Amino acid sequence: MIALPLPTRDHWRSLESRCAALADSERRRIADHWARAAQMEHASVAAFSRFSLQLLAVGAPPSLLEDAHRAALDEIKHAELCFSLATIYARRSVGPAPLPVDQRALTSWDLSSVAVATVEEGCVGETVAALEAQTAAELARDEAVRNVQLLIYEDESRHAELAWRFIRWAVQIGGAPVRATVRDAFERTIAHFEHASPLEGIHEQRLEAHGILSERHKRTLRTRIMTEVIRPALVGLLA
Ligand SMILES: [Fe+2]
Ligand SMILES: [Fe+2]
Repeated sequence: MIALPLPTRDHWRSLESRCAALADSERRRIADHWARAAQMEHASVAAFSRFSLQLLAVGAPPSLLEDAHRAALDEIKHAELCFSLATIYARRSVGPAPLPVDQRALTSWDLSSVAVATVEEGCVGETVAALEAQTAAELARDEAVRNVQLLIYEDESRHAELAWRFIRWAVQIGGAPVRATVRDAFERTIAHFEHASPLEGIHEQRLEAHGILSERHKRTLRTRIMTEVIRPALVGLLA
């Protein structure tokens, strides 16, 4: 049984009264944000289920397999919490639509392909998700929102660490060809994060009080994450 640091009822009540002060259009935008975040968390459950199958296919050690299954459970928790926030802001129940499962996503089973996907989604994607959640938690004024972001930060940090552990193992097992593939995948992914605009379309810094980072803030943070976290860790990995 997983112990959830769920906000107390009083915290939800404070969020509800904070919501009451918002204009309808603003509430809708914040609700949309949390609904989109929840859908991404929901899709992450499938991503870890796929990762578990890929780990089996490449003969990964059981400790990695165990942590991949635990991570899928974390993502269910994240989806539930984000849908709960969307529900409060939207003033109606918000939940997941059936998730389209693309058969083509289940075709990459060799070590190099699995390593490339793990670099993109895990080593970089989860690290970015963790540190964005940490920053959003620092800026959020409401305790319920802050608790959700802090929980996501802690879990995504573990997911990122799992990805780095897998890549270290893959490089060790796969030797020079996998090492070269991993280096290329990092360079492509770092360039993508440094140059692509964050998908989030919210510009107002005042929404950061509701746990939503502005586009400008995300851009600055992502550049720092690439320079100060990902690149030094990559140098250590390939040394
Ligand atoms: Fe998550
Ligand atoms: Fe995650």
